[in-house]
Amino acid sequence: MSQSGSQTPLQFSASQAFGDLGEPASILIFGASGDLTARKLLPALYTLWKTGYLPEKSQIIGVARREKTDESFGQEMFEAVQSGSRIGDVSEADWNEFAKRLHYRQVDLQEPEQMDQFRTSLEELERQTGLGGQRLVYMATAPHLFLPSVEALHNAGMIPDPHEPNWLRVVFEKPFGHDLPSAQELSNSLSRMLDETQIYRIDHYLGKETVQNILLFRFGNSIFEPLLNRNHVDHVQITVAESQGMERGRGGYYDQSGALRDVLQNHVLQLLCLIAMEPPSLFRADNIRDEKLKVLQALRPGGNNINDWAIAGQYTAAEVDGKVMKGYRQEDRIPEASRRESFVAMEAHVDNWRWEGVPFYLRTGKRLPLRVTEIAVKFKLPPLNLFTTVECDGDMCALVEAQPNTLIFRIQPHEGISLTCSTKRPGMQYQIHPVTMNFAYGETFEAGLPEAYERLLLDVMRGDTTLFTRSDELEAAWRFVNPVLEEWENRSDDPCFYPAGSWGPKESKQLLEKNGRSWRRPSGAKPG
Ligand code: BG6
Repeated sequence: MSQSGSQTPLQFSASQAFGDLGEPASILIFGASGDLTARKLLPALYTLWKTGYLPEKSQIIGVARREKTDESFGQEMFEAVQSGSRIGDVSEADWNEFAKRLHYRQVDLQEPEQMDQFRTSLEELERQTGLGGQRLVYMATAPHLFLPSVEALHNAGMIPDPHEPNWLRVVFEKPFGHDLPSAQELSNSLSRMLDETQIYRIDHYLGKETVQNILLFRFGNSIFEPLLNRNHVDHVQITVAESQGMERGRGGYYDQSGALRDVLQNHVLQLLCLIAMEPPSLFRADNIRDEKLKVLQALRPGGNNINDWAIAGQYTAAEVDGKVMKGYRQEDRIPEASRRESFVAMEAHVDNWRWEGVPFYLRTGKRLPLRVTEIAVKFKLPPLNLFTTVECDGDMCALVEAQPNTLIFRIQPHEGISLTCSTKRPGMQYQIHPVTMNFAYGETFEAGLPEAYERLLLDVMRGDTTLFTRSDELEAAWRFVNPVLEEWENRSDDPCFYPAGSWGPKESKQLLEKNGRSWRRPSGAKPG
């Protein structure tokens, strides 16, 4: 597929093109000395500024307990942006200009006096820079500090009425709760201080260009949508695979979490919502979120006993590409006898007219053969098989079955969409040959894809909640996984083991094989 028409050169600024860039604001990053600020938030804010998307006058204020000055914080952030920027080297001149809006405040949020001083110094900065008092607070803290931080804002009188023009928008990183009761409790406690319209729960997958494109591809074309239902689709597979293990000291967090909480409950279920939801009547935040919620509410386990439809896996030591990889239990900060799952595979169903009887197979895990995220929609075979394929190797020939059409959304890497079809192999017989129609971002668009955090931060400044998870959505997602979490939390047996660098335990294969299906080999994966 190729883009029709020529590309118009960019001759106007982003603000001229898209009027609503959001209002200038104080962007407060709580937990600014952490990894997320350096790896994701500052590179995203810098790129927004550089590409004309950061509203003029906006100020960025890092807030944390560690002692730092504006200069030392600025220097650290310069290094972080230099190594994490997707738009190339950061020149000194650009950085000096950008750094004029970068500040650091040492604050212990638990100390009311310090919060009062912080408020005064923030108001002074806002006066000097001509800001109107709009504030974006990004909770880049450990999750147990979410509530105390909001309480600190509340006690310092920094939470305005949601209808005031001087808005406050608070962004929460995941995990938002660690199970259904804790997520409900956090939502309830926050709701005493913040209105739902002031809360932005991040699932960074929704900020990915390729994830947003699922909606556009489905509802901006008329030829695919009528096929996405039980009459034509055999099943859907969603894979979020990572080759990384417990690098960068992640073991401590991960062993408390596991694959089900860390990725399936949020990123995988969000992908499922987008591929399964009905078209919204309007392209507005709440219309879209209402449709996603209906999918989550219709989710049903793919079996009666948890073991029949949900598989927990854990990687063991193995040699991968000539390198010995540690097993999960030997990783840094992981207890020797940990039963935490580093892999999960599941069969889920969406109980509605569109999807009745169509299984959704979901899998995610660490130390798999490669990093790949994709959604594969496998269609049914034609009702009558008129054509056969003969594959010959020397004198030995065999009949090969026709392959079902598959629509693949490649979320990352090799971003794009492809559709496999059957065609006639040139020759004197009617022989089927599978071909792929392919759309690749890299071939169609010159500009690189924006980082998820760029889009999400901009949307907070615009006040657009479309790409953020509403509390009822979040609860519905927890409600679906909660029985599995409880069962695995109290398990007395080991999860199913798989060698590092493989596609998970054999039980994950069996989940599909029992119904005559198999996992697709994701784009870029080696045969085998
Ligand atoms: C995060 C998880 O939410 O998503 C990580 O906590 C995971 O464990 C990451 O590695 C994957 O994100 P991405 O964008 O690299 O696919």
